[in-house]
Amino acid sequence: MFSKIIGTGGYLPEKVLSNHDLEKMVDTSHQWIVERTGIHQRHITEGQTTSELAEKAARQALEMANKTPDDIDLIIFATTTPDLVFPSSACLLQRRLGIKNGGAAFDIQAVCTGFVYALATADKFIRSGSSKCALVVGAETLSNIVDWSDRSTCILFGDGAGVVVLEATDEPGILSTHIHADGSYEDLLKVNAGISQDYQRLKEGEAFIQMKGNEVFKVAVNTLGRIVDETLAANNMQRDDIDWLVPHQANIRIINATAKKLKLPTENVVVTVDQHGNTSGASIPLALDTAVRDGRIKKGETLLLEGFGGGFTWGSALIRF
Ligand code: UT7
Repeated sequence: MFSKIIGTGGYLPEKVLSNHDLEKMVDTSHQWIVERTGIHQRHITEGQTTSELAEKAARQALEMANKTPDDIDLIIFATTTPDLVFPSSACLLQRRLGIKNGGAAFDIQAVCTGFVYALATADKFIRSGSSKCALVVGAETLSNIVDWSDRSTCILFGDGAGVVVLEATDEPGILSTHIHADGSYEDLLKVNAGISQDYQRLKEGEAFIQMKGNEVFKVAVNTLGRIVDETLAANNMQRDDIDWLVPHQANIRIINATAKKLKLPTENVVVTVDQHGNTSGASIPLALDTAVRDGRIKKGETLLLEGFGGGFTWGSALIRF
């Protein structure tokens, strides 16, 4: 038994925040942001919740997969910015979609690697026979935890949702998944408040993403290089067996470094960071959906998905689409 992606969906909130808009908010420039990150704009919610964004993406993915909500017996929802402490965003999405079949629904928190963690978990549920058809979600409203006065972080992040429908099949779709963590890097990338730590700060609306960008950058480039090697070796594949790199969209310079390692021409790398910014757990499924819908990624092609983020967490998935 294997699992296969049979539908993708994506949703971005309507409001666009350009680099020029940010120039009016903090001491930055369009030129600096583009040169250092590749980002031109990002989408920002105006009150929409994370599960609301996810519902729109999920309905698109279900339509492409030719499935109804009741076909879904598992929802795994990767997010760092859930609607509520509880119920989970997965349960809220289940209700929004009107699913009443009692299938499992839960959230996964692995920050920017969240979608890869969720995909790896759903694949294991399907391979073990526990589930037949899953929604795997990456959705975020990071704009709620961005310090809009901190130029070193506020230029980076955006909101959005990406979803895939994963179904049990006889032929392999997900070829392998690889997920890792090293919890010793809290000081380089974190949100400075939560429920059982510094709750007062959260209540006062002062809980923000804090990042030592330069140090995160170096670890990200090295780690993503290693995960590429691990993934190819596990599948006995060479670099030129990969048709598409679908990376986490944090910074064009990090994406280019991974593509260079794979010796992949830029035309075979899906880049959305210019339009979406860094949407954390949503970035990989949004990039995948973009390239599936515009016809670049075709059935039968081999995709390498990879991500790196807070924790640190990192991971990859090799996929026959
Ligand atoms: O998604 C999870 C993982 N996250 C990542 O992978 C992000 C990794 N990090 C990065 O993408 C990059 O480190 C950043 C884009 C965040 C920053 O780029 P950088 O090339 O590493 O810049 P830097 O932090 O070394 O800063 C260089 C200079 C500094 O000025 P001085 O000290 O050289 O005078 C900063 O103060 O750029 C300054 N700077 C800015 N200038 C204009 C920092 N932010 C800005 C800004 N506009 N927005």
